Amino acid sequence: MSTPFRIPDHALLRAKLTRIRRRETDSVTFRRILAEIGAILTSEALRDLGEVEAGIETPVGPMRAPVLSAPEPCLVAILRAGLGLLEGARIVLPEAPVGHLGLVRDEHTLQPTEYVVRLPRDLADRGALVLDPMLATGGSAIQAIHRVKQSGATSVRFACVVAAPEGVAAFRAVHPDVPITAAALDERLNERGYIVPGLGDAGDRCFGTE
Ligand code: PRP
Ligand code: URA
Repeated sequence: MSTPFRIPDHALLRAKLTRIRRRETDSVTFRRILAEIGAILTSEALRDLGEVEAGIETPVGPMRAPVLSAPEPCLVAILRAGLGLLEGARIVLPEAPVGHLGLVRDEHTLQPTEYVVRLPRDLADRGALVLDPMLATGGSAIQAIHRVKQSGATSVRFACVVAAPEGVAAFRAVHPDVPITAAALDERLNERGYIVPGLGDAGDRCFGTE
């Protein structure tokens, strides 16, 4: 099985991504739009959640209406930049438990180091949607998803804003069962492991630490 990789065909998603790609977009605007993108990507990544019909009463009368057949998936943000996406994801799933995974990439080796793991207990029952704006070499997302699986999740999805072909290939080789939803697939990585044309350092732009 090869990891499904999907870019939703959505004009708003494309326009919002263009705004955060622009060099001149300030940190406050970047963070707000990243949250809006988080809401769209979350809704797209979970569009095929299982449903059943339930009998309900509207103010006018009874009907059978669809409800989710299982509890909502946990949201897991990869720190720091995943927090920007999480803000919007929580508007879509306000009741979902939230996990945090702190990972930072070494600027020379490009290898991620884990510094925080706080995951919900019910990953096994709910599954998880893992959020990080950037899939560059894929190292951070691959490690994060190892952790989430190790904590019991069998149904895992990943959403990012910009992906590099190198990252998608690495991710597919390790987690072929985890679907990826992205706003864009860019050209390549540069010699410093940044996505080209990308949007720069998502964490720094989100938190004003450039
Ligand atoms: C960025 C980004 C991803 C990672 C992607 O985080 O948010 O987590 O790099 O790169 P990769 O696919 O090559 O692993 P970074 O490590 O810079 O940490 P930050 O969010 O705290 O800035
Ligand atoms: N991390 C980022 O924030 N941006 C990139 O382009 C690559 C890794």
